[in-house]
This record gives sequence, structure tokens and C-alpha cells, in this order.
Amino acid sequence: MDKIIIFDTTLRDGEQAAGGTLNIQEKLDIAKQLEKLNVDVIEAGFPISSPGDFEAVRLIAKEIRTPVICALARAIPQDIDRAWEAVKEAEHPRIHVFISASDVHRIYQLKKSREEILQTSREMVIRAKQYTDDVEFSPMDASRAEPKYIYQIVEAVIDAGATTVNIPDTVGYAIPGEFGGLIEGICRNVPNINQAIISVHCHNDLGLAVANSLESLRRGARQVECTINGIGERAGNASLEEVVMAIKTREDLFNLSTGINTKQIYRASRMVSELTGFSVQPNKAIVGANAFSHESGIHQDGVIKMPITYEIMDPRTVGIPASSLVMGKLSGRHAFKERLAELGYSLDGEDLNRAFAAFKELADKKREVTDRDIESLAAEGLRASSEVYHLDRLQVTCGDRGIPTASVRLIAPDGQILADAALGAGPVDAVCKVIDRLVGVPNVLTEFSIKSVTEGIDAIGEVLIRIESEGVTYTGRGADTDIIVASAKAYTNALNRLLAVKKASRQG
Ligand code: KIV
Ligand code: ZN
Repeated sequence: MDKIIIFDTTLRDGEQAAGGTLNIQEKLDIAKQLEKLNVDVIEAGFPISSPGDFEAVRLIAKEIRTPVICALARAIPQDIDRAWEAVKEAEHPRIHVFISASDVHRIYQLKKSREEILQTSREMVIRAKQYTDDVEFSPMDASRAEPKYIYQIVEAVIDAGATTVNIPDTVGYAIPGEFGGLIEGICRNVPNINQAIISVHCHNDLGLAVANSLESLRRGARQVECTINGIGERAGNASLEEVVMAIKTREDLFNLSTGINTKQIYRASRMVSELTGFSVQPNKAIVGANAFSHESGIHQDGVIKMPITYEIMDPRTVGIPASSLVMGKLSGRHAFKERLAELGYSLDGEDLNRAFAAFKELADKKREVTDRDIESLAAEGLRASSEVYHLDRLQVTCGDRGIPTASVRLIAPDGQILADAALGAGPVDAVCKVIDRLVGVPNVLTEFSIKSVTEGIDAIGEVLIRIESEGVTYTGRGADTDIIVASAKAYTNALNRLLAVKKASRQG
């Protein structure tokens, strides 16, 4: 049975999703969870794209020892040099070089001839190869290119030393039979193909990313590129959990395996959703809230009698807890830290103190503190550790007669205390107006949503806010048992992220 290489690109293509920016600590926490999941390759980022991305890749390369750590680079010398700078301390470094190969990209975007692209591909693989043996090459938009040209490029880059050739369906245009045919064509028509691994990288614009990936594995690919929860550019990438569980559940058909520790899937999904701010739709396969819940009486009856009547997978195999462990106000700091670690969060020092204080406060208000509450506190703790402006005090008056009024006190990066008050259409509007006035960064609020973390009237409320500034979307999150406080935290968090990105790009 062949083993499929699972290449996770949550931190690179996943993070490219609009509004999905993660800070360095969040990326490191996700990378640690990916290591627990036992992915084979982590594509940690695109180092030339920003100083923050470079730093995140460098840190992950230093700290995460088991998987291969991969850095993306365009087929440009400076990109390749920068990618190497970022991954050189990894135990297993990889450089991933890409260039567009379809005529539509070539003519309208690159304005280069096929021969020029072929030549550049060869030269840039040779350049990357001077740094590391492990070089991956992608002819971008391969699914819309002429297959014969793809065979030619693949042969040339293998000849130049590429050890993995990745075939991207960049715009999610392919249909399974056709994409599988391209992979089979590569196996048949590229004379040196046995010197490299064929990889696939599918986008989900037609909802076919997983289907295309699986068909390619049946037709010769041995690496699949995917992301947790399927997040990524536009409609996203192939979802790791769906690809892995399809291979496992239908082993009879695929006769393939992966090294994934499937029990870590649910935790990885929760963490990525928590840190990126992208909720998982309830009916999402494998990790959605309804993926294993049975509503129909006939189904419930069957599952009680014998789970396999209506369940093709045991929810425990993906790490869905049978019931969430409950902690309360008597739980100590040590137990709290252990629980955090089990959930994948490594908080120490001030971050841990802050999260523990928030836990104690919550346990006073709420009899039972569940894993979902703790995840929410941990994420809040991580957000607080990278604050630019800190929300210090907030007071709101509202009601059916009064004019909604908010007064806010923020602590600025230089320690200065800033305070102001504003009226608004409602309490959240009033809060955002004051914070806006105090921080003074032009932006437009494009999304506001609120949900409770657990059931019960005493639950934590989580607010998600997206703002736009100069065409870029920034996501902010905030959690508190008081939803107005959660809203103020979320708005401050979105502005802090915007300011951090602006500062990093000024420094770069
Ligand atoms: O979708 C794509 O083509 C990519 C490449 C960089 C592999 O993400
Ligand atoms: Zn992609």
C-alpha cells in the first residue's frame, strides 16, 4: 500500500484567504498542531512577500523538527535566496519554486514565450538545488495549459534536480476525470518521471478540489497539497481532513494510506477556525458541528442499534470528544495549563497569567467551563499578547429610551492613556465610533457577527469583525461574557492587526 505525502499549506495558501492573516505566534501554534497531526510537509509561508512572513517561516523552521518545512518562491533569484534564508535552519528544508505555465497567464501576465519560461524554470530549480536537495517545482495554472507543454516543463525541471513536481489546478477549473487524465499523461509521457514525486494542488472554485485530488491519487500522484478546513485563496484549497478521511475510509478502493494522526484532526480544525476567524459551516464534512449528528428518528434508531448503519466513520477517529471535559472554579493553574496544552495552545508567562485570570473570572460567572470556553480564552490570550492598543475600560448606556452612549479608555503603544465618548445608533456603533476616533486609522467595517461559544445564557459571546483598509481585509475577534465588551475587543483587535501589518510593511 503506497503512502501519500500530506503537504499542508494552511499557513501559506490558507492564509492567503481574504481576512485570514495570522500573526507569528498564531502561525507557530498552528505549525505545532500540524506536527502533532503528523503532516509530512508544512508550507510555512512565502518569505519574500513580507518581513512578517519571512520571520514566521524562520521561526517555524527553527522550532518544528519532524516535518519538512517548505518555503514558497517565485522563479526569481531573490525569492529563492530569501526562501532559503528563511528555511535554512530546518531539520528538513524544502524550497518550492513556481512559475505560470498556461498560455493565458503567459501571454497576459508574464508576457514571456514558452521557451523563456522553460529556460527560467530550469535555471531557478538549479539555483534552489544549490541550497537544498529537496526542491519542489510548480507550473502554475497547469490544468489550463497544453498537456504537452506541461510534460516538457516537468521533464526539464526533473532533469535540473526537482524532487517533487506539483501540478496545480490554480483556478479550480478542472473536472476529476480530466485532471486525473493529466496526471496519468504525465506518468506516461515524461521519461524521467520516476525520479520525482508527482504532487497535486487543487482549488475549490467549482467545489471539486477534494474530488480532483483523490482522482489524481488514483492515477499516479503521491503528494497532495491541502489545508485545514479547506481554507485558502478564493473558494479555498482541498480540505486536508476530507482527503485524509476519504483515503482512510475507502482504503478498499484506494489501497493507499497516510501517516496522519487522525485523532488530531478536530483539534486542528478548531484551532485554525479560532485563530483565522473563519467559522466552519455546520454541515462541513468531517469537522462540521452536524457532521456526526443524526436528526431523523429512523437514523437515530439505526445508530443506537449499530452505529455503522448511518455512520461511515467513528467520530472518535477524528478526535471529536465524546463529551467535553469540564473545569470549574476550583481547578488550579497547573490543570488549566495542561488542558490548554492538550488543546494545542502553549501559553507561558504573562500570556498564561492573563488567560488563567480570565478563566477564574469566567468560572465565577459560569458553573462549568468547557473545552470550547478554554479555546476561546486561549485565543483571547494570544490576541492580547500582540496588542498595539489595549482596551482598558468601557462603559455603555443604552435602552429603548436613552441615546446609546459609549465611553472608552485605551492604552496606546507608548503607554499613554486615551479616553473619549461617543453617541451611536446602538451600543456597538457607539463603541466603534469612540475607538475609531482614538486610534485614527481610516477603515470601513464590512462584517460584524456574534455567536455564543457554548449553549446557556451564561455563555461566552464571540464577536467577529472584519474591516477593510486600502483594499485589504483584516479580521478581529473578541470574546467575553459581555457582548459589548467582546465587540469592543474585536474591533480593537482588527485595528491592531491592521496597524501591525502597516508597521511591518513600513519596516520591510
Ligand atoms: O494555486 C497555485 O497554483 C499555487 C502555486 C503557488 C502552487 O498556490
Ligand atoms: Zn494555490
